Amino acid sequence: ALKIAVLASGNGSNLQAILDRHAGGVLDVDIRLVLCNRANAHALERAKAAGVQTLCLPHVDFPDRESFDLAMIEAIRKAGADTIVLAGYMRLLTPTFLQAFAGRVINIHPAILPAFAGVRGAADAHAYGVKLTGCTVHFVDEIMDHGPVIVQAAVPVNPEEDVETLKQRIHVMEHRIYPQALQWLAEGRLVLDGRVVRLAPSDRKRAATA
Ligand code: GAR
Repeated sequence: ALKIAVLASGNGSNLQAILDRHAGGVLDVDIRLVLCNRANAHALERAKAAGVQTLCLPHVDFPDRESFDLAMIEAIRKAGADTIVLAGYMRLLTPTFLQAFAGRVINIHPAILPAFAGVRGAADAHAYGVKLTGCTVHFVDEIMDHGPVIVQAAVPVNPEEDVETLKQRIHVMEHRIYPQALQWLAEGRLVLDGRVVRLAPSDRKRAATA
């Protein structure tokens, strides 16, 4: 199983989707740690309820990004995780952190990248007036919301819809595609070709065509 650490800053509904799939026996991950940078993150409660190890490291307790990320690296290694799942983690990661888990950090973003990168993806798309938006799971590189795209889902914007309703509908799709992307990663099926991610056939399919 893929040994993951989930980093979250807030509600943790994507974490919940991962916990639920795992509990359902359809997600081959070992959730070694849920790490939050805010003490009031509801994600911590969700992890505890599922019996998953948690750690709260408030970034405000550290003098700079580098020392904070070094503390996270240490905690993640100690927990035995080697793959990082960002689930509403609202801080930029340093190059030091990304090099420590090179090619093994994934993120979910509430828009169709490269449109509406940044911390307000869903709200920015709503304010812009696009008629189609959605969500993106991608590998993380050193540029914000920029790394290779693993999977995207489309969400049409309903006329007159407010931003909260739109966010909720994007969340529904996030909760589908994030566990799916993780399962592909766990199966070793995500192959990088330049910046294009290709999905290799599953073992089952390979066996059937052999
Ligand atoms: C999700 O919509 C995720 O795409 C977004 O934060 C939300 C977290 O929700 N992430 C970003 O905007 C990253 N730039 P959750 O805490 O309920 O999973």
